[in-house]
Parts: sequence; structure tokens; C-alpha cells
Amino acid sequence: MKTLDSVFKAFEEYLKHNTPKVSSFHPHYEAALWEMVLNGGKRFRPKLLLSIVASFKKESLQNAFAPALALEILHAYSLIHDDLPAMDNAPLRRGCETLHKKYDEVLAILAGDGLNTHAFYLIAKAQLKPKVKVKLIETLSFNGGIYGMVLGQALDCHFEHQTLPLEQLKIIHLNKTAKLIASALEMGAIIAQCDKKTRKNLYQLGLDLGLFFQIRDDVIDSTQSIQEAGKPTHNDSIKNSYVNLLGLEGARKSAKVLQDSITKQIKTLNKPAQKHLQALLNGYFNI
Ligand code: IPE
Ligand code: IPE
Ligand code: MG
Ligand code: MG
Ligand code: MG
Repeated sequence: MKTLDSVFKAFEEYLKHNTPKVSSFHPHYEAALWEMVLNGGKRFRPKLLLSIVASFKKESLQNAFAPALALEILHAYSLIHDDLPAMDNAPLRRGCETLHKKYDEVLAILAGDGLNTHAFYLIAKAQLKPKVKVKLIETLSFNGGIYGMVLGQALDCHFEHQTLPLEQLKIIHLNKTAKLIASALEMGAIIAQCDKKTRKNLYQLGLDLGLFFQIRDDVIDSTQSIQEAGKPTHNDSIKNSYVNLLGLEGARKSAKVLQDSITKQIKTLNKPAQKHLQALLNGYFNI
């Protein structure tokens, strides 16, 4: 695997071949489980993880595909649940009908539950040292679970219709989005067996990147069409978002401050990581 693009292509192939058949007499169970994963998306989180492995220990790339897929399917679960009627009530995701619309709410909830659990099964079965796998499980469950994404989603939904101060909005965004993105970089560092300091630096960089990513998502809600975004837009009016609190230009300014800090932090990494992360993030930096 030479270029990072060829690694990403190989990962996409790996993903397609790792949606196992789960035979049963349920008419839609198997289709619903994998549909949202196969519908695409930017694959931002697995690409971050693979970029770090490619930069620090490229001989481990092949064995990093399973944890990269674990991360992506845990993210897919968070999207399926985020779109449920009780949460953001969205009919479209990744350009396709959401599962609760196409099938029913029960199957959407269970497909999300299934992907959440399956993420940890994939890590357990990965071709990696037991110590590495335990660390990966710790990171993914800490950031994607009750101390991270789940908490952020609870705060996000509970405080609809109430304007929170910036400090609290930042806490929501850090939890619902940034921690999982930070864990992508940290998981890469764990697989590459980076030293503690590098791991810590990558996690911190990931928190800034994740906050940037969610502010960018708030901007997308207010500036893009449904077709461009592949999901409902102009939909955040009841939410605490950077655009609602600071206005579009204020949100863009906050994003720019983070972008500058991220760029600086990237420059402290080794040369391959600088090259890989700059290339990957280039497409995200013009908001
Ligand atoms: C959407 O994530 C939800 C947020 C955390 C902003 P992405 O923008 O990464 O969605 P996909 O994976 O590309 O569909
Ligand atoms: C979702 O944030 C964050 C998740 C944990 C899924 P949003 O609700 O803003 O994400 P979109 O805009 O629906 O993708
Ligand atoms: Mg939401
Ligand atoms: Mg949403
Ligand atoms: Mg959004």
C-alpha cells in the first residue's frame, strides 16, 4: 500500500467485505444493520486513524483496518440514533432515507445497538496484541460512551429551546463529536505504539479538530442544501449551535482560530504525519 489514497480505497473494500451475513427469518434485520454503514459518508474518523498508523508504523496498516471499521460503525450507530424521532427526527442521512423511515423505529434502534456492540467484537477479534486491543477498547468506549458521545447527545437534546452560554455549548460539542474524533487519532497512536507524549498530543489535537468539525457541521446546517449535505439542513433552529449563538461569521471565526491551532500542532509531529494530516484536512479547512 503506497499512497494514503490507496490505503483508504483498500479500507473501503475491507469494509464492504466485512458486513457479515446474519441469517434469520426477520425480513429486514440484516439489510438494516449494514445499510447506513454501506451508504457512505466521508469516513473521516477511520481515515484519521489510518493516517496516524501510516505515519508512525505503516507495517501495521493492514491490522489497523478492523479497529478503523470498529470506529466507523460506532459512529454510524451514533448517526442512526441521532436521526431518530425522539432525537433530531431526520428523514435523510448520507443521501438516503434513514432507517426508522425506511423500516421502523424498532429496527433503527436495534441496528444502532447492534453496531455499537459489534464495534467491540471487531476489536476483540483483531490481529493485534492483547495489550493493544485492551487500550483500543478503553479509548473507544471512554470517548464514544457515557463520558463522551452519549453524554454530549444527552446534553444536546435536553437543552433544545434553551440558549446556553458558549462555555456550555463547547462542552456539548466536545462530548458529542470531538471526543470520538480525538479517539480516532489516539487509536492510531495506540496501534502504532507511539510514546505517551505523542499519544497525548494527538488526543489534544483531536479535541481541537473535533470541535472544529462540529462547528463546521453547524455552518453546513446553515449554508448548504439538503442535496449538498445529504441530510436535512436549516434544521438547527432549536439547538445550541455555534451559528445560533455567534452568528455565521462568529462561528466561522471560532473555526478559524481552531484551524490555526490545529495547523500549529500538526507541525510538531513527524514529517509523514504532517504530510498525511495536512492532505486529509485540506478539504475541511475552507468553511
Ligand atoms: C456527522 O458526522 C455528525 C457529526 C458528528 C457532525 P460526519 O459529518 O462525519 O458524517 P458522515 O460520516 O460523513 O456521514
Ligand atoms: C450529531 O450532531 C453528533 C452525533 C453524535 C451523531 P448533529 O446532530 O449536528 O449531526 P448531524 O448534523 O445530524 O449530522
Ligand atoms: Mg444531533
Ligand atoms: Mg442531527
Ligand atoms: Mg449538525
